Amino acid sequence: MARILIVDDESAIRKALERFLAGANYDVLSAKDGEEAMEIVERETIDLALVDLVMPKMDGVELIHRMKRAQPAIVPIVLTGFGTITSAVEAMKAGAYHYLTKPFELDDIAALIATALEHRQLKEENRLLKKELRDKYRFENMVGTSDEMASVYDLVEKVAETDSTVLITGESGTGKELVARAIHYNSPRRDKPLVVVNCAAIPEELLESELFGHMKGAFTGAIATHAGRFDAADRGTIFLDEIGDMSMKLQVKVLRVLQEQRFEPVGSTTTHEVDVRIIAATNQDLDRAVHERRFREDLYYRLNVIPIHIPPLRERTTDISLLLHHFLEKFAFGKEPKSLTPAALERLTAYSWPGNVRELENLIERIVVLKKDDVIDIADLPAKILGKAPPAAHAADESGEVTIPEHGISFKKAVGDFETKLIEGALKQTGGNKNKAATLLHLNRTTLVEKIKKKRLDMSEQE
Ligand SMILES: Nc1ncnc2c1ncn2[C@@H]1O[C@H](COP(=O)(O)OP(=O)(O)OP(=O)(O)O)[C@@H](O)[C@H]1O
Ligand SMILES: [Mg+2]
Repeated sequence: MARILIVDDESAIRKALERFLAGANYDVLSAKDGEEAMEIVERETIDLALVDLVMPKMDGVELIHRMKRAQPAIVPIVLTGFGTITSAVEAMKAGAYHYLTKPFELDDIAALIATALEHRQLKEENRLLKKELRDKYRFENMVGTSDEMASVYDLVEKVAETDSTVLITGESGTGKELVARAIHYNSPRRDKPLVVVNCAAIPEELLESELFGHMKGAFTGAIATHAGRFDAADRGTIFLDEIGDMSMKLQVKVLRVLQEQRFEPVGSTTTHEVDVRIIAATNQDLDRAVHERRFREDLYYRLNVIPIHIPPLRERTTDISLLLHHFLEKFAFGKEPKSLTPAALERLTAYSWPGNVRELENLIERIVVLKKDDVIDIADLPAKILGKAPPAAHAADESGEVTIPEHGISFKKAVGDFETKLIEGALKQTGGNKNKAATLLHLNRTTLVEKIKKKRLDMSEQE
């Protein structure tokens, strides 16, 4: 709710404005002179001030100067009596947004306030966008100003200069590859290749020859000698993505490259020597993989020299709005980006984003493609983001994810509440007909009736 301060020495005007603006759902404060007004401004955040120009003690122009000094974001609107136009101009110079001559229509005031507040909001958004742009190009196109991302940037900056091995961890879609790229392109190796290998995407039998190369005839199908990715990455960086999926056998060979910068292609006895910086990433818990003997402990320690953990989006919610704007802009392809209503932004910020930035990016792309108008509202968001219980009739095939709040929930109560919702929904849909409701829910009528009794659901049958 926007907070408006009324400053006028005439109590009749003050009262009329107070009543009118409170009725229009503003949070209203008022003062009878400049001194009283400044006391309020020093105490409370004010969005907009209606300021009378001619007042005893301190005139409106001076008050606006002082208010702006205390709170630069305040939007002052000047109220002037007839014949004080010159001072109105002065007031505009002091930072007033507009002026109204007395006597004024309340509707005019309402309209002026609405545009002024909108203007203020735009200015604020602009300020945020500028800040975003400043930070965005620090590393490639990484967006985010949360403390969590700030420490990621710090680490990237520090390790970029070195040849140290880096292990990037984080849930799927948090930006691990982006961080790997940022490290390479900010390192002295930036003019040499960055070779990306997704260890999970290449079948195990092929991964070895993919990484280390093979000799002609080394295995069936090896019709020519083939250089490996480690050769290709010489003097550059190799990014071993999803390293947690690599077989134990290959892990040995990678360990040797890490220790000695040497390897032999498949089917060859000649040793290749390379100068490669290794960055690895995984969304698995490697500690546990080591425990479960799926991952070599020695390799883990070798990789984990400098760990960089990227926290999931739900742990850095302040980045969500920046990311939303970033992708709205990206998918506008140079045109005017669509905007989000405050309500839509609120829902998007509150959502838990299990698929992290990738999920957010995909959602915005889909909305931008499908949506014709320029404003994205709640109605354009999928049900999982709105956190709505699915309509009872579709509940059975609902596959959306559930996020349990940190303080936990009562399992019994949650299940009970959902049952109630299903029953209420079915009864509503069938006009309270228990037979039909039972059929809809695939329940016996007696079971349903018992449940209704137990829950004391007040639904009179209208058969
Ligand atoms: N901070 C960020 N700023 C801007 N875009 C980001 C950011 N983080 C991630 N992205 C984008 O989100 C998408 C997913 O990022 P990326 O592929 O780096 O994630 P990942 O952690 O490697 O995911 P996965 O584990 O699924 O491979 C990419 O399109 C990337 O550009
Ligand atoms: Mg990835």
